[in-house]
Amino acid sequence: MTRTVYVNGEYKPENEATVSIFDRGFLFADGVYEVTSVLGGKLLDFDAHAVRLQRSLDELEMRNPISKEDLLEVHRELVRANNIQEGLVYLQITRGAADRDFAYPGDDVEPTIVLFTQSKPGLANSPMAQKGMKVISIEDQRWGRRDIKTVQLLYPSMGKMAAKAAGADDAWMIEDGMVTEGTSNNAYIVKGDTIVTRHLSNEILHGITRAAVLRFAREAQMKVEERSFTLDEAKDADEAFITSASTFVMPVVDIDGKAIGTGKPGSVAARLREIYLEESLKSAI
Ligand code: PDD
Repeated sequence: MTRTVYVNGEYKPENEATVSIFDRGFLFADGVYEVTSVLGGKLLDFDAHAVRLQRSLDELEMRNPISKEDLLEVHRELVRANNIQEGLVYLQITRGAADRDFAYPGDDVEPTIVLFTQSKPGLANSPMAQKGMKVISIEDQRWGRRDIKTVQLLYPSMGKMAAKAAGADDAWMIEDGMVTEGTSNNAYIVKGDTIVTRHLSNEILHGITRAAVLRFAREAQMKVEERSFTLDEAKDADEAFITSASTFVMPVVDIDGKAIGTGKPGSVAARLREIYLEESLKSAI
């Protein structure tokens, strides 16, 4: 089926949507993105994604070509037009098309904006949530502004491929002996009754799912520590899991071939996944 996508103010069939070969997203990875999940045909945490998008744009001195109200409307229209019940809306804004130059172009250059949907039936009832994921550890070789959600995702892609080659599902990245995050998700461990996840800084993406899950955990009187943890601490944990818009809360049962806890998805991750899905659906728009 041909999807309807959105490009620079217009809804188009996907095979007719184009951007310039001079687009700075293409030439310099000079662009930012957001991924918003859809459940029951509704958007999860749209407001928080819009706030983070604006922050990414501000950090890069990039103009926002669309108001929050119009952005919501485009998200909803694409979900409707493509009949998405469970899936994602991908949004990308780049600094636009200009003759190749490292210096940013002037304000006369219009940013490029693209949105498309991905249908993912079974997203909420993922078999992976029952089985758990296996991760490997790799060195974190990304740049130092991981708090900005840019489209320069080659190192995470390499990490994903290394994981696949090792028969695992994803990679956790390590810097100075500490776990930063997964290739496209935030990383957590559970020791006793305490949930540990890295504190916010420029070293990790400030996950929208992370913020929601930590809020729900605290509301449920669970203990949360926001601090760095080592790979050894993770391997010795009772549980491990990840969060992201595309996986919600997903248990990790194996790190570098070492079984975590019982080697089965843990009860804290399962409970958080349940609470997250229930609460986010309530506030979905
Ligand atoms: N990835 N850390 C990184 C490096 C990420 O790329 C992501 C999101 C997250 C989790 O953020 P959030 O909870 O806001 O989705 C953490 C998206 C889903 C992606 O690239 O597809």
